[in-house]
Amino acid sequence: MPRILPHRTTPATQVPADELVNWYQQFRRDLPWREPGVSAWQILVSEFMLQQTPVSRVLPIWTDWVQRWPTASATAAATAADVLRAWGKLGYPRRAKRLHECATVIARDFGDVVPDDVETLLALPGVGSYTARAVACFAYRKRVPVVDTNVRRVVTRAVHGRADAAAPSPARDHADVSALLPDDDAAPLFSVALMELGATVCTARAPRCGLCPLARCAWRQRGYPPADAPPRRAQTYAGTDRQVRGRLLDVLRASDSPVTRAELDVAWQTDGAQCDRALNSLLADGLVTRTLGGRFCLAGEES
Ligand code: ADE
Repeated sequence: MPRILPHRTTPATQVPADELVNWYQQFRRDLPWREPGVSAWQILVSEFMLQQTPVSRVLPIWTDWVQRWPTASATAAATAADVLRAWGKLGYPRRAKRLHECATVIARDFGDVVPDDVETLLALPGVGSYTARAVACFAYRKRVPVVDTNVRRVVTRAVHGRADAAAPSPARDHADVSALLPDDDAAPLFSVALMELGATVCTARAPRCGLCPLARCAWRQRGYPPADAPPRRAQTYAGTDRQVRGRLLDVLRASDSPVTRAELDVAWQTDGAQCDRALNSLLADGLVTRTLGGRFCLAGEES
């Protein structure tokens, strides 16, 4: 293996803060949750929605959502069914339920103010390590490492010179990103820039290395060695229980009164057992309720 990187190279040399931040200021997408004046609650809503969902699908839902429910207390005052309807087709609807629960806790226990430290954030419903750090950093400008899949990929390439990240390891991943964070107030801007580079340039399948500001990227210096394993195939959606759950929720969202089992069955006629399974899982997740009369509705709509 040729020794290509000079002995003194540090991670910060491979990801220089000023170059990355300059690039971000020139090329970033104008995303509304990054605008000045967006509240911590609204940033938290965006982070809930952006988990596992592309920006383009989140944009219209987030915009309507924060107009309708600008605060945690406004969200908490909505019914669970309203929240599930407004979630629309973003997918993974358990996130909507958790967001509603999170709003309730913030309104009730925190005076309608989103906490600013990672530990307290982590205790909120639906808030995991990524979301807690993203809110502390992007809403409160805390110098904490924020690590999502895109950031892990940029660091793996730019610092470690490999094409693909190993399995996530929070301690190692946070240490890797901490070593890159600038010491000053620029840390939050650096973090969002790293995330943006991974989302738009240093992408998984077709990285646009010609547009990358990281001239000393270790992967580039090694001649872009390929990944050890072939790329993972994208998850299929068609025919999965997730798709059936989505279809059943579509029927329930479209109805303002409880529906019969037969009306639900129309949504998925290919496999009755799969339909049963999907409905049972929606009931178990508390997203759907069975009424006393044996009909079905969105949770919280049974009265
Ligand atoms: N800006 C802040 N957090 C983001 C995210 N999760 N995805 C895209 N842009 C963001």
